[in-house]
Amino acid sequence: MEKQELIDKAFEAMKNSYAPYSRYHVGAAVLTKDGTVFKGTNIENASLGATNCAERSAVFAAYSNGCRKDDIVALAIVSDGDQVCAPCGICRQVLSELINQDTPIYLSNGKEEVDMTIYRLLPMQFGLKDVIR
Ligand code: THU
Repeated sequence: MEKQELIDKAFEAMKNSYAPYSRYHVGAAVLTKDGTVFKGTNIENASLGATNCAERSAVFAAYSNGCRKDDIVALAIVSDGDQVCAPCGICRQVLSELINQDTPIYLSNGKEEVDMTIYRLLPMQFGLKDVIR
């Protein structure tokens, strides 16, 4: 699957965004080795801390369906903001454990595109290696 196709899937997911508080809409799409795409969007809550971000929704959907990090070949994250959506700190922490360090992460807002990896977004990581000794 082409990069642009995965980005388009993330924009499709963004249409399902539930964001009555921020009105900031985010979509994400995880591509797996067998070509399956898992979509996710941001889902807000009146108890704001209960909000789930788009990229976590998408990666959790992939894991919920039996995928693990080696199955994930790319992740697209899109928003309707003026800048591309830089993943929040909680998402960086989650992605650092659930996808590979060099897996391409495509950020887009339809005007600008940035290619990232989780290693570049979060270089000094606290992870499994620190907790499981
Ligand atoms: N949001 C995401 O979906 N992903 C991020 O990495 C940044 C923030 C969402 C959460 C919330 O619904 C809205 O954007 C504003 O913070």
